[in-house]
Amino acid sequence: MAIMKFLLPALAIAGMAAAADCDGQTIQNQGDADGLASCKTIDGDLEISSRVSGTISIDGVERITGKLTCKGAVNMTELSAAKLAKIEDAFMLSGLTTLATLKFDALTEVDSINFEALPRLQQLSFTKGVTKAGSVRITNTDLVNLNGIDLETVGDFDVSNNPHLTEVNVNKITNATGFVSFSANHRDLKIKFPNLENALNMTFRNASDVSLPSLKKTTGLIGFYSNYFEDFAAPNLTTTGDLVINDNSMLANISFPQLETVRGAFQIANNTNLKSVTEVPKLKTITGALDFTGNFSEVELPELKEVRGQFNMQSSGKLNCDPIKENVKPNVRGTFTCLGDVDDPQTRNPTSTGSNPSRSSGAALSGYVPPSGMTILALIGAVIRAAL
Ligand SMILES: *[C@@H]1O[C@H](CO)[C@@H](O)[C@H](O)[C@H]1NC(C)=O
Ligand SMILES: *[C@@H]1O[C@H](CO)[C@@H](O)[C@H](O)[C@H]1NC(C)=O
Ligand SMILES: *[C@@H]1O[C@H](CO)[C@@H](O)[C@H](O)[C@H]1NC(C)=O
Ligand SMILES: *[C@@H]1O[C@H](CO)[C@@H](O)[C@H](O)[C@H]1NC(C)=O
Ligand SMILES: *[C@@H]1O[C@H](CO)[C@@H](O)[C@H](O)[C@H]1NC(C)=O
Ligand SMILES: *[C@@H]1O[C@H](CO)[C@@H](O)[C@H](O)[C@H]1NC(C)=O
Ligand SMILES: *[C@@H]1O[C@H](CO)[C@@H](O)[C@H](O)[C@H]1NC(C)=O
Ligand SMILES: *[C@@H]1O[C@H](CO)[C@@H](O)[C@H](O)[C@H]1NC(C)=O
Repeated sequence: MAIMKFLLPALAIAGMAAAADCDGQTIQNQGDADGLASCKTIDGDLEISSRVSGTISIDGVERITGKLTCKGAVNMTELSAAKLAKIEDAFMLSGLTTLATLKFDALTEVDSINFEALPRLQQLSFTKGVTKAGSVRITNTDLVNLNGIDLETVGDFDVSNNPHLTEVNVNKITNATGFVSFSANHRDLKIKFPNLENALNMTFRNASDVSLPSLKKTTGLIGFYSNYFEDFAAPNLTTTGDLVINDNSMLANISFPQLETVRGAFQIANNTNLKSVTEVPKLKTITGALDFTGNFSEVELPELKEVRGQFNMQSSGKLNCDPIKENVKPNVRGTFTCLGDVDDPQTRNPTSTGSNPSRSSGAALSGYVPPSGMTILALIGAVIRAAL
């Protein structure tokens, strides 16, 4: 008995020591990284200390069951892991101000990518390409493209404040199941999702081109704010949640030839060059509000049969409201307003999505009026307008 008492803990310790090699741990220097050479799998989180400097190369490891993280290692210039294929939790790099090379030749799968404040990182050397990621967030890097992020599926996809990012082509993705958001990258950024068919919620800000040729449906918001393109077309889009097109100063032509249903609000505001909205030939139903303001002179909504919320159209241009009053007004459940030649066109909801670059919601402007009838305010509005 007495022997066992001493033996057991000793064995346990020996066992732990042997296993500890490939357990989660913190790498303080290249020597620690070399110590992992025989580990195919790291069981747990692998952290890289903020005190490492120069090159860290993790060879041999093929899989990490936890996170791979490195924060604040300002002197690490290169990080590589030649055989690492899978990181089952987050891959998080933050505040690596001199990191210029990130070389993960075999990496294909991560639970999430979160790269922030990597001001020297101009490219990702992900030779095989990451095809699966639950979410991707890339912010404040020096990346010029996202080659190496070759997603087939993704949840949230947030790309912001990358001042040299001019090209994003996510050509394998067909469904985006989370929030897709681009903002404040290089003003020449061209975003291409050639095969994307379904999305949940997408916002595009400050881009020079957004190409969504295959997009059929968004469940939630699709919003375009402060972009620099002159044309936008979504040739295959049939259904959206809120649809918002605000502050695109060069935009002259929008085209939604297949769009039938907006399950939410449809807002067009502050696009100073947009003179007409004539290419929504099939739009039938808007379950929220329609809110168009600007300096346009031509609006055609030939098939619009139902607007459940308010209808607000105000233009400083020579807009003739008669056809709209005749064809659309009878199908509007909320307040109906249509005004041409006004000095200062007013949107219905000044606190809407456009002015707020944070995670604001298009739902706030949906202005949905329950089918049971008009609200008192809407009634008053309707009475006043009828009197005018
Ligand atoms: C980075 O290197 C500089 C110069 O060698 C040193 O002074 C500084 O302490 C290092 N920083 C870290 C976080 O190791
Ligand atoms: C994409 O979404 C559609 C509709 O929600 C679904 O039918 C399809 O299976 C999804 N495709 C993939 C590859 O997940
Ligand atoms: C647009 O939709 C049609 C019909 O569903 C399809 O045949 C066509 O390939 C789609 N176009 C693109 C670019 O996905
Ligand atoms: C980018 O877009 C945001 C939100 O729409 C806007 O506030 C900001 O002024 C834009 N930035 C530039 C440089 O256009
Ligand atoms: C607007 O764009 C659509 C599709 O891209 C095109 O068919 C149409 O001719 C354009 N209209 C104008 C006025 O440029
Ligand atoms: C509206 O556009 C016309 C030209 O189409 C221009 O003359 C006028 O100044 C614009 N008005 C405003 C308020 O921008
Ligand atoms: C339109 O622009 C004006 C002036 O910049 C701003 O006050 C207003 O909030 C904008 N409206 C929308 C819906 O973006
Ligand atoms: C859409 O995503 C944005 C973040 O990109 C979020 O702020 C907003 O609430 C979402 N809208 C809806 C209707 O889910």
